[in-house]
Amino acid sequence: MANYNPPPYRIKMVEPIKMPSKERREVAIKEANYNLFNLRARDIYMDLLTDSGTGAMSQGQWASVFLGDESYANAKSFERLQQVVEDITGLPEFLPAHQGRAAENVLVGHLLGIKPGKVVSNQNFDTTVGHILFNKGEPVDIVIDEGTDAKNLYPFKGNMDINKLNKILENEAEKVALITLVLTNNAGGGQPVSMANVKQVFEIARKYNKPFFLDIARFIENAYFIQQREEGYEDKSLQEITREFGEYCDGMWMSAKKDAYVNIGGFIALKDKTLADRLRERLIMFEGFPTYGGLAGRDLEAMATGLQEAVSADLGVVAHRINQIKYLVDTLHEKGIPVVLPAGGHACFIDVAEFLPHIPKEQFPAQALGIELYLRGGIRSVEIGSLMFGKHVDGVFVPAKMELLRLTIPRRTYEKAHFDYLIDILVSIKDNKEAIKGLKITEEPELLRHFTCKLAPVE
Ligand code: F0G
Repeated sequence: MANYNPPPYRIKMVEPIKMPSKERREVAIKEANYNLFNLRARDIYMDLLTDSGTGAMSQGQWASVFLGDESYANAKSFERLQQVVEDITGLPEFLPAHQGRAAENVLVGHLLGIKPGKVVSNQNFDTTVGHILFNKGEPVDIVIDEGTDAKNLYPFKGNMDINKLNKILENEAEKVALITLVLTNNAGGGQPVSMANVKQVFEIARKYNKPFFLDIARFIENAYFIQQREEGYEDKSLQEITREFGEYCDGMWMSAKKDAYVNIGGFIALKDKTLADRLRERLIMFEGFPTYGGLAGRDLEAMATGLQEAVSADLGVVAHRINQIKYLVDTLHEKGIPVVLPAGGHACFIDVAEFLPHIPKEQFPAQALGIELYLRGGIRSVEIGSLMFGKHVDGVFVPAKMELLRLTIPRRTYEKAHFDYLIDILVSIKDNKEAIKGLKITEEPELLRHFTCKLAPVE
């Protein structure tokens, strides 16, 4: 049996949740046009759509909320957050933004505005892809081959393929506008990137004089994996590791809705003051004055405390969370449900290409499993497969690299009994899985279709 580690907190405020009836679930999924993003939260028992902004803040964070300085310019809360970000990243220039994609709008919009081109990454996340395409750039994903093999136990499956990066730069350096690494690799199963890989990519970016930024939505989780798995890091603190990331890049951007344990927030941190000042000009247009960036002073305070607590060795916040996910992944694996191994950060990813081989990839098998999980258990998950990343090129369907269903774990929100319920529902689906049918798209927008498209079951 997989071990479950006791939580380093107890609960003092709860939110009631209710299981909608079977009849209601059947109506609700039709009303949502079989798109899980369209389901109403009131129709959901357990919401595993995302870990983004959906966690519980600590008492320390709630206490900070009351200290928020709501001055328009140069508030005390801005100064405090800037200092915390510098302590944790080592980066001196700081621009708050209201969430990760807002930071992407400022950073990608600016860099591709100067020079449209390729954005080479281990695996660009969907909102980043949206900003790259919107700015007439081209996302290029070169995660290592192990990263798309669900069963491979390599400890750093989020690494970038260094040979591929070298080849791209040798052959067409002039076409590359930006190099990034996503820590951890969300779209590839929450798998971590090693410090050695960050350093190698940085050295290559230096050699070709290309900007290199880290997407640090879940970099404290990534730092935890480095501490646990990479030689030479076992005695380093999480903060020593996150500061080392800062040495090997030009800057970082963060969706603070993840590892900063807040419901809203984000930022860009970087080394170069000239570039930071250019970015501040865009920030004023899209987010607000450069010291609040679309956030209230209270949000800046909650973010500062959340970051400090997440890197704290005493609190064990991130270690507990990673072990919670490991319990879910290992138990499902033991019960014969194919999952991405080894357990990564923030979510359990079901390998649906293997689980439902009877559904062709054009019919979105992972979405089909997500619908079934809702119908059976009132549980909302999210597809990370061909609905999100598949495309048609000259009329030919090109599937995503993997067909994954992500069971994303909000921070400090669900307990072991919830996970055991989820495991029971998945086992009951396994016993009857041949009956699950694929889906077809009936309406879709041009960009980021998975958020709003409409689907229907294939008869
Ligand atoms: N980068 C990564 C790696 C992300 O996971 C996300 C968001 C973003 C950027 C964008 O940040 O949502 O604050 O604008 N991921 C969420 C998810 C939505 O469910 O994985 P945002």
